[in-house]
Amino acid sequence: MAGASAPVQASSSAPPSGLGRYVKLEKLGEGNYGCVYKARDIVTGQLVALKKIKLDEEDDGVPSTALREVALLLDCQHKHIAKLEQVIMERGQIYLVFEYMDLDLRRYLDNIHAANPAAAAAAAAAASASIAIVPSHAPLPPFVPGLPMPLVKSYVYQILLGVEHMHSRRHLHRDLKPQNLLIDRRGRMQIADLGLARAIAMPMPPVTHEVATLWYRPPEILLGSKPYSSPVDIWAIGTIMAEMISLTPSFPGDSEIDTLFRIFRARGTPVPDDSCWPGVDALPDWHATFPKWSRPSTEGRLRALHIRPEHGLDADGIDLLDQMLELNPARRISARRALQHAWFTKDNMHNLSLASDSDLKSQAEKVAIHATLQAKKKRAEKLKKTQEAKRLAKQQQQQKQHANGMDDGEEEEEELDEVEGEDEDEGFHPGGDIRMQDDDEELMQAAADNDLLSQ
Ligand SMILES: Nc1ncnc2c1ncn2[C@@H]1O[C@H](COP(=O)(O)OP(=O)(O)O)[C@@H](O)[C@H]1O
Ligand SMILES: [Mg+2]
Repeated sequence: MAGASAPVQASSSAPPSGLGRYVKLEKLGEGNYGCVYKARDIVTGQLVALKKIKLDEEDDGVPSTALREVALLLDCQHKHIAKLEQVIMERGQIYLVFEYMDLDLRRYLDNIHAANPAAAAAAAAAASASIAIVPSHAPLPPFVPGLPMPLVKSYVYQILLGVEHMHSRRHLHRDLKPQNLLIDRRGRMQIADLGLARAIAMPMPPVTHEVATLWYRPPEILLGSKPYSSPVDIWAIGTIMAEMISLTPSFPGDSEIDTLFRIFRARGTPVPDDSCWPGVDALPDWHATFPKWSRPSTEGRLRALHIRPEHGLDADGIDLLDQMLELNPARRISARRALQHAWFTKDNMHNLSLASDSDLKSQAEKVAIHATLQAKKKRAEKLKKTQEAKRLAKQQQQQKQHANGMDDGEEEEEELDEVEGEDEDEGFHPGGDIRMQDDDEELMQAAADNDLLSQ
């Protein structure tokens, strides 16, 4: 495996690496394949993301998902792919140590939503609208400004750079969605969670059907096409681009068929001939009885994606989006060609992707701080609840003792321990909470500087 030895140190051969080196700060996320914690490296002082891989108890040894992710990350190291700094195997667990990024794109978009009630209302309306009954002349919901267009362009470009790198090494991501895109306050974007990716290498065994999250899933997967290939990632990037612009998910289906019909209504039902998608009618989940929506005009297509002229997507941007959301995967633009598209080449993307202007920087910073403060608030509430439960337990214990005429006891200690022991992860340094306080102060100061506390 190329480059396998360089970035990774086995904890046994290179002390003082290992878990003792990291102070756990907070849980960042929990998915199918593991928990991710924010932690501080006490040797360098740097923040890291620690991904603890869930081990299948029935499996002997390391799960194949973990091995797949490690192998892929090592093979795919790139500026726009999550940077794996170390792999730790300790106490029968595997931890992947990544460079810390401030936020994932899902939380960034959600935070903007939270600050904009019109956005939340528009998204709720889009999600609940039945695909059959929204007439094209329906009144438009209130305008929702999305991310600034230079930021959208920079993010799309950076995702494409990462994906092009993966595709050129014959890997698919297969699960691109805002939760798996990491951003930082310098305007950088990285692709994370390569756990579901697999090499495109032929011959391809049938790939898992339930891979991409429904909303970002392309029509060929929804129609049961096997095998599928790199265009699945490009479709996802198209839907993510539209969502960044409009702040509203493009195809928020609640089932495969609902998602498919939302796509057909927005892009037109594919026609099984040379003008559109030859062979689509031979795909396993195609039905001759599918409703036949005709392809909407450019304006209609944008409107279906909740994109308005006020969002400022120019003709080149519209063209690229159309090419990424091309129904027929064989005709969908590749990452390489997308990077050469006029939407990018007319700008100096080198500058845009390396350093965002100060406006974007401070916006990303505000959102990152806001999200962290919210997480802290949640934890404080949880702590309060725990303390309340503890107080109640103690009270009950005292009443019980009083009734039994007992005066002291181990029993009481045991009950209290149970409450206190909740949610602790023994794999980490217990000083985590102490360090949090320093962090809190820094954050509160940054928030005050950014005028966030008054929001
Ligand atoms: N390097 C990182 N920096 C900051 N947050 C991260 C990092 N890696 C992951 N996360 C957070 O943890 C979440 C879950 O991580 P991910 O790798 O996608 O694992 P899963 O397989 O559980 O989905 C992400 O959605 C993101 O919020
Ligand atoms: Mg994920």
